[in-house]
Amino acid sequence: MRRLIAFAFALAVAACSGGTGNDQNAAAEARGERQVAPILTGADAVDSQTYARPEVARVTHVALDLDADFANRRMAGTATLDVQAAQGAREIVLDSKGLEIEAVTDAGGQPLRYALGTSDATKGAPLTIQFGAGAAPAQIRIRYRSAPDAEALQWLTPQQTAGGRHPYLFSQGQAILNRTWIPTQDSPGIRQTWEARITAPAPLKVVMSGERLTPEGEDAGNGRRAYRFRMDRPVAPYLIAIAAGDIAFRELGPRTGVWTEPAMLDRAAAELVDTERMVEAAERLYGPYRWGRYDVIVLPPSFPYGGMENPTLTFLTPTFLAGDRSLNGLIAHELAHSWSGNLVTNATWPDGWLNEGFTSYFENRIMEALYGPQRAAQEQALSFAEIESALAELGQNAPGTRLRDDSGADSSGIVYDKGAAFLRTIERTVGRERFDAYLTSYFDRHAFQPMTTARFLADLRANLIRGDAALEQRLQLDRWAYQPGLPENVARPDPAAFAAVDRALAAYNAGGEAGAVPYAGWTTAERLRFLNGLPREMPVTRLAGLDQAFSLSASGNSETLFAWLQLALANRYQPAVPAVERFLAGQGRRKFVSPLFETLWGEGEWGRPIAQRIYARTRPSYHSVTSSAVDRVLGRAGQPAP
Ligand code: BES
Ligand code: ZN
Repeated sequence: MRRLIAFAFALAVAACSGGTGNDQNAAAEARGERQVAPILTGADAVDSQTYARPEVARVTHVALDLDADFANRRMAGTATLDVQAAQGAREIVLDSKGLEIEAVTDAGGQPLRYALGTSDATKGAPLTIQFGAGAAPAQIRIRYRSAPDAEALQWLTPQQTAGGRHPYLFSQGQAILNRTWIPTQDSPGIRQTWEARITAPAPLKVVMSGERLTPEGEDAGNGRRAYRFRMDRPVAPYLIAIAAGDIAFRELGPRTGVWTEPAMLDRAAAELVDTERMVEAAERLYGPYRWGRYDVIVLPPSFPYGGMENPTLTFLTPTFLAGDRSLNGLIAHELAHSWSGNLVTNATWPDGWLNEGFTSYFENRIMEALYGPQRAAQEQALSFAEIESALAELGQNAPGTRLRDDSGADSSGIVYDKGAAFLRTIERTVGRERFDAYLTSYFDRHAFQPMTTARFLADLRANLIRGDAALEQRLQLDRWAYQPGLPENVARPDPAAFAAVDRALAAYNAGGEAGAVPYAGWTTAERLRFLNGLPREMPVTRLAGLDQAFSLSASGNSETLFAWLQLALANRYQPAVPAVERFLAGQGRRKFVSPLFETLWGEGEWGRPIAQRIYARTRPSYHSVTSSAVDRVLGRAGQPAP
């Protein structure tokens, strides 16, 4: 036992000795070897969401060879894992959820003993593989298939697509869903390179979050085609992603392009015209884009998030298609994750603000670079309002308002908006030039490595503060990172950002007429400021006046429609019910769907029957991420009878 610990320690140290990780990787790359990313060993980097024990044995590379079986809604085939084990290690533990394991062997086909442990409702079950006699095998091969209800995967019928003729498949790995289709160590601190060969029935095309090696696919027999992919940079396993469907590609710029169903291509490309410029702006801010291509895919409307930063291929909801690019901050956001999140990654999910808060700050910097300080200042002010409402909702002293938070609150007003405000506060305190230089070096020094809050603060102290006691005092780093609420030194948004809107809002709220509000001439951010600044309780006649004056229920902008519907439903405004039904049936983004059902549910005898009626119809079309959130809101009453 002592031996094992000693060697485990040696393995961990060899893999993570501070700044040398990248030097080792550069050397490995020069020798044509795969990079092996370090694993952090501190107590703050222990991931409670994984069964893996990477200090004993870890996965360094995943090779998938899978068939997408649309008829049975399964991915089926093999995963071959490269394993690095400490000397004396006898087994490796993987994560799995719902996987049907058929066989486990070494690379030579020799069977290995394995056991699936008891399954937990969120974490799934540990898959423990014995190494047998002698040294640990360099590779293990698992023959398996995913369950038809694998939470990472959504299998769409042709009717659920824009084209209506072909089925569709997409995955969503973050945070811990990829274990429902890939048997590996599903922890963001255990980075892995990967490759894949995926077959699907023609004419479907397969895309993944890595380099495409077979743009046209290869014949795989039985009317199927095989597509091969490679990711030769070590990534967190939640970033392995797949989509397959009747999709087409259009170039946006030299290294950018969009995939979507043919019927969506024109609209998508028009909304995404600035993508290449965003990549250029991001590089000017924080250094080179390190992933080769930056493509995006606009998915069918049931995609449960706004966007997902899958490397080389951002996944997007079609609900950002507003027709006027007013919601393209989403692209800036997902692109920014190519640095914050994908290059430097939260070691565990309680450190999620290191991904999302950094990215929200970075997103705003890209928006400023492309569209100027006015739009950036308005979006900052909206973000600040989100912090205030999160604090009001959770309570100023609630544990869930801490940036590093393991309470499970997972409030976006904290993780995203308070996180961004922290960085903006540092920027305003030390000056933009100095902070930009620091962030560029931070991404460079920690590229392809995990990060914790404590390491980030240590890095700030070593490379930015450098012993300046007065600066340390002004920044209040520990207060920001570990305490609830909002420190007094927070950089507040520019009060001028919405001065005109706030004047119109005050006049309207004092009894003014809707016709006096210059809504039609406002930007999306201004409209959102107005809608969210209306009192939460309003008489139906006033709501009808707004609806008629600005055609709110007919808005084609998902964000303003959502803001309006929230207000309308909270006031039992019946004429909005057809619009809410259309919206809830037409898209499945959790951020819109779950709060609308929650508002309806909160409206007792008026709203509950409406919620139940709509959900009975829409639930089958939602991704599990969305339906499980709504199930929690509606309780058992919301679920179909068994
Ligand atoms: N990485 C997130 C999506 C995510 C978060 C998936 C947590 C699973 C768990 C993505 O980058 C994101 O933040 N998307 C936002 C859009 C953004 C503009 C704030 C979304 O989905 O709304
Ligand atoms: Zn994000």
